[in-house]
Amino acid sequence: MGMSDAFVARSLEEVRFWSRIMKEHSLFLRLGFRCEDTSLINEANHFYAIFESIEARANAFTGGTDPNVIKRFNDEVHNAVSHIWLFKRKVLGLILTCKLPGSNNFPLLVDHVSREANYFRNRLTELNTGTLEPLPDAIIDENVFFLRIMADHAKFISHLLDPSERKLIDQANHFSEEFDKLLFQARDLESMRPQSQTVPLLDQFLDQNRVSVKSLRDFKKTARDLIEACRIKSIIHPLLADHVFREAEHFLFIIDMFERSLTGRPFQAERLDA
Ligand SMILES: [Fe+2]
Ligand SMILES: [Fe+2]
Repeated sequence: MGMSDAFVARSLEEVRFWSRIMKEHSLFLRLGFRCEDTSLINEANHFYAIFESIEARANAFTGGTDPNVIKRFNDEVHNAVSHIWLFKRKVLGLILTCKLPGSNNFPLLVDHVSREANYFRNRLTELNTGTLEPLPDAIIDENVFFLRIMADHAKFISHLLDPSERKLIDQANHFSEEFDKLLFQARDLESMRPQSQTVPLLDQFLDQNRVSVKSLRDFKKTARDLIEACRIKSIIHPLLADHVFREAEHFLFIIDMFERSLTGRPFQAERLDA
C-alpha cells in the first residue's frame, strides 16, 4: 500500500469511527438538557445533523478517493470538531457555575466528551500534516488517554445504574478502581521516559492493559444487552451503553496495532528513542 493510499484508509477509518461518536455525543447532551433550554437543545441538534452528514460522506468515500479530496475533507471535519469542542466546554462552564440546575449531564461526562473531541481533532491534524508521534511515545500517550476514558466509563455506568442494582454497581466500581490503577501505572511509565521505553516494558504494558480492557469490554457488552432487553433498572440510554462498548473495542484495536508494530521490529531490549 502506497503512502497516499494509507493516508486515505487511515483518514476514513478515523473519521467514520469518531464522527459517529460525535453525532451520538450531541444526542446524549441533548437528552440531558432541561426542556426550557431550547437554544442548547437546538445547538445540540445542529451538531447532530453536521456529524450525521460527515459520517455519511465518510462512508461514501472509498479507498481509491483522491488524497487531496480527503485532505480537504479532514480540514472541514477538523473545523466541525473544533466547534463541538467549544460547545461542550461552554456547557461544562454552565453546569459548573450552576446555571443549569436540574439538568442531567454530569460535569465529568461533559468534560469526557470534550476530551474525545480534542483527541479526534489532534488525530486529524496528525493525519493531514503527516506528523505521527514516534511509536514509543504514541504507545504511552494513547494508553494514558484511553485508560482514563475507560475509568470514566466505569464511573458513568456505576452512577447511572439504579441504586437498587447493587451487584452491577459493585462490578462497575471494581472496574473504576482497576482502571484508575492502570492509569497511574501508565503515568509512572510516562514520567520515567525515555528510559522506560524498552520493548519488554512497553510490551508488558500493552499485555496488561489488554487483559483489563477485554474484561471491561465484555462487561459493557453484557450491560448493553441487559439494557436493550430491559432486564435492568437504570437511566442509561441503550445507545450510550453501545457507545462505550464501541470505544472499548476501538482501544483494543489500537493496542493490537501497537503490539504488531512493536514486535514486528528488528531491535530487542534497546531503548526506542534513539
Ligand atoms: Fe464518547
Ligand atoms: Fe467515552
